[in-house]
Amino acid sequence: MNIIKSSKALNRYLNTIREGDSKVTIGFIPTMGALHQGHASLIDESVKNNACTVCSIFVNPTQFGDEADLDKYPRPIEKDIKLLMEHGCSILFLPAYEDVYPKNYTHKEFELNNLDHKIEGASRPGHFQGVSNVVSRFFDIIEPTYAYFGQKDFQQTAVVRRLIEICKYETTLKIVPIKREPHGLAMSSRNVRLSDKGRKNAAFIYKSLTQLRDDVPELGLKESVSKAKQFISAQKGARVDYLVAVDSKTLEEVDQIDDAESIAVLTVVEYEGVRLLDNIILK
Ligand code: PAF
Repeated sequence: MNIIKSSKALNRYLNTIREGDSKVTIGFIPTMGALHQGHASLIDESVKNNACTVCSIFVNPTQFGDEADLDKYPRPIEKDIKLLMEHGCSILFLPAYEDVYPKNYTHKEFELNNLDHKIEGASRPGHFQGVSNVVSRFFDIIEPTYAYFGQKDFQQTAVVRRLIEICKYETTLKIVPIKREPHGLAMSSRNVRLSDKGRKNAAFIYKSLTQLRDDVPELGLKESVSKAKQFISAQKGARVDYLVAVDSKTLEEVDQIDDAESIAVLTVVEYEGVRLLDNIILK
């Protein structure tokens, strides 16, 4: 695996690959490091389908509301490099702040059709604009054929789809299903902050989502959502931040299963002081 730290060097390197073979495809996985098996599944998917896989590790300050959170963000770079090598990643892009955001860079406000303000965006103002800025910088540098994002950050995938549309990127978005721990908890860098017992118990989140899916034919969507919320709230130490059924494209809330062509249920549950994201696609 090649480790490249400068955007100019990466762009040059990828152009040489593209010039050598016009049919070559480049897969890209943006990350903030602290890689786990969820990230590995994105790398695997790209390695399987592309001659060249680029993974970036960059803890992006513009998507953090709280500086303390940014400082606390884990940076186990040696471990990350090992995982990337084991999974056959071709290039690790490890840029410095000034390379991603040069002095003359002006932070952009993308027209995201309000996707950035609702649900997760409501409690994290500016977060999705920060994500959009960094992802668009990476797309400009790398010009990937495919970009791989995890379904776990469902709202982020909707934002990136919109970004690709408005910036007319020639990149195809690939969404990789959620990777789960043996008990069902969605894999996340945050899971290490749970106690061992909490990590097993937190399976109730996924259980509530699958039960919700099974309840819909009999109870209808609205009633099933409210039952799932009650179930989670009844778990000791758990607090539902949100649990909503939405149109997968617009993220508008829906009440009935026929209200949209594709529907997902998104949730964040606070448990042992950790915000745990999960979702399920209903149709
Ligand atoms: O999902 C993440 O880890 C980040 O939001 C991303 C896409 C790498 C942008 O910083």
